Amino acid sequence: MRLPCVRVSAKDVEEVLEFLKSRGAYVRNCKVKKLSDGSVAIPVKEDLDMSLIKELPAVLVSESCYEDFVCGTLGLSFKDLLTGLIPEGVLRRIPSSYDVIGDIAVINIPEDLLEYGRLIGEAISRVSRNVRAVYAGSYVSGEYRVRELKHVFGDPVSKTVHKEYGLRISVDVLRTYYNPSLAEEHRRIAELVNDGELVADLFCGVGPFSLHIASLRNATSYAVDFNPDAIKCLIESIGMNRRKLKGRVVPVLCDVRDFLRIVSDDVFDRVVMNLPLEALEYVPAVSNKLRVGGVIHVYLVSYSVEEVKHLVSNAVNPSAFSVVSVKRVLDYAPRKYVFRADLRRNA
Ligand SMILES: C[S@@+](CC[C@H](N)C(=O)[O-])C[C@H]1O[C@@H](n2cnc3c(N)ncnc32)[C@H](O)[C@@H]1O
Repeated sequence: MRLPCVRVSAKDVEEVLEFLKSRGAYVRNCKVKKLSDGSVAIPVKEDLDMSLIKELPAVLVSESCYEDFVCGTLGLSFKDLLTGLIPEGVLRRIPSSYDVIGDIAVINIPEDLLEYGRLIGEAISRVSRNVRAVYAGSYVSGEYRVRELKHVFGDPVSKTVHKEYGLRISVDVLRTYYNPSLAEEHRRIAELVNDGELVADLFCGVGPFSLHIASLRNATSYAVDFNPDAIKCLIESIGMNRRKLKGRVVPVLCDVRDFLRIVSDDVFDRVVMNLPLEALEYVPAVSNKLRVGGVIHVYLVSYSVEEVKHLVSNAVNPSAFSVVSVKRVLDYAPRKYVFRADLRRNA
């Protein structure tokens, strides 16, 4: 790790180290380094007040420099590694967690902190050893629900393969939506499916629901998305997992509105609709594509279970559908959550 340092003659190392430690200026998890001229570089914190150096006994040869140091990370978080390297106020605004998608880490940080991106990325790659690229940016946006990301560290690759329950899922972090926190939800839905079902996985993204369903059941899922990169990733994943799939996944590159126009009524046993800010608008068009007894799993953003029940009851004919259950799936914003509502068609 590249850090500022103080250069001293070999005989003075112990004395200067003690001095720097007593002032909290030494980067403790990094080793001092012997340089080719026989002097020694001691790693110090980025915000070290250089007037401190002047307090050192005059006999020492000391000057400021930058060197690459070998640093240990045992038991340390990436934020621990950043302590002293970036201002305290900035550190407080950086979240403690980040997503690891395959071998790529993605961290949400405010735009004005992007100038610290390289240091943050380097610290993340040191605690998550399998990470080879780090991207920083904000939350999902746009019609493809893709995050706006900036590459801040490591190889400039955006494609990776993420594993969920042993399934290999191809993801392009710059061009497709993927949220590793949904892995359990993908599995939960697949476990509800019975052999022989016909499923519509609307707004499928890179297709994790359909892949899980096909891995557990001999069922057929139409996986529909209008993002060509997402459908390309899904096709790659079907190829990578072919020995694990009992069922079929039919990737459909299409606007869900067009798909619903061309499919017959009363055909699907189950419809998955994971587009939380908009899916509810599509429920009326989906409702008569479902056979009687079939289930819609619709995801939506709301404050409470009661509000979700109210919203979904208004979106369907209440005499034809019953709300079977409402589950909280993810945090979305302060006091706002992503819920899943399960609706059964009765008539
Ligand atoms: C939340 S993401 C996908 C989530 C995915 N089911 C998962 O679990 O990872 C929503 C997806 O809907 C797609 N999308 C949005 N509006 C669409 C539409 N009208 N037709 C087809 N796809 C749409 C976006 O491209 C995006 O991939």
